[in-house]
Amino acid sequence: MQNFGARLVHVLRTQELEPSILQWLFRIADKSRAINQTEAGARLLHDCLPHRSMLLYFLQPSTRTFYSFQAAARILGMSTSIVRDTDKLSEAKGESQLPDSMHTLAIYHDVFVTRHHDAGFSASCVKLLAETGISRPIINGGEGTEEHPTQAILDIYTLEREYVNRGGLENRRVLVVGDLARGRSARSLITMLAKYKIRGLDLVSPRALALPADIKEHITTSGITLRESERLVDFIADADVVYMTRLQDEYPSEAIPSDLDYSGCVLDDTVIRRMRPDCVVLHPLPRREEIPEDFDKDPRARYWQQIENGMWIRVGLLAHILGCDERIEKYDLA
Ligand code: NCD
Repeated sequence: MQNFGARLVHVLRTQELEPSILQWLFRIADKSRAINQTEAGARLLHDCLPHRSMLLYFLQPSTRTFYSFQAAARILGMSTSIVRDTDKLSEAKGESQLPDSMHTLAIYHDVFVTRHHDAGFSASCVKLLAETGISRPIINGGEGTEEHPTQAILDIYTLEREYVNRGGLENRRVLVVGDLARGRSARSLITMLAKYKIRGLDLVSPRALALPADIKEHITTSGITLRESERLVDFIADADVVYMTRLQDEYPSEAIPSDLDYSGCVLDDTVIRRMRPDCVVLHPLPRREEIPEDFDKDPRARYWQQIENGMWIRVGLLAHILGCDERIEKYDLA
């Protein structure tokens, strides 16, 4: 058994995740990816959790999180069920989502992954399910404007892999760009980065979409120096990592002007020209105009790799939560 502290039961909030558990998940993800290269290895993975089933309860749109969890479950031999809207559930007949609908679904499934508009939905699931006498691991697959813990895990995993032969993530300068007021991917990554010894964090957003003051304070009290601007071009030349994000306009806010100027958050030619040749550019996707498609061919664009890493880290996470991680870790690759 590796020294990762307590085994994760649920994944609800980024703040609750420690680098030690992430290191262990990275190891299981790397090992699973390597094992899967051979037919015998793929069979071993597929034989890990054939007796387990996962419910994907996704009430907000999703491509990558949804399908990567589903693909991860398939790799581990699990079956999956899907809820993407409540019209077909008895919730449409007035049944309570919590606890009755979830209580019923928990009888049929071993683990839930949830995506929801409301902050705190996954934590409410844990609490109200426990009160019904049935508990299931709950994984928050993104909720509200603040939390996307599995995205933060896969983003740190991607950065660690990018820098594994280049001196590590420590002492890197990270630039996070976009709608930092409402972007849960950016905010979860920033929360997680506070636990790493990075050299500095630069934030770029229109003023109306700036990172809330309490998170900024959390970063600076962690000992990380912070700089802010409305224009990417101000910091791009110093960045080891650029994390781009889109405008989150599905969350309306009166504080945001209708003529909001997002142009300072776009990877345009001037910005690209000033970017370091070894810079790593990530994006949780979906993107809009903030990264032109032409940039996809640039070796600094690492967001397609990030997507693949997302699948393998979710293999690691499901294996860990459902207890076959050590079996994977012990598999002899030779
Ligand atoms: C993000 C999300 O849903 O928060 N997407 C994702 O999970 N990869 C980012 C976004 O929607 O902008």
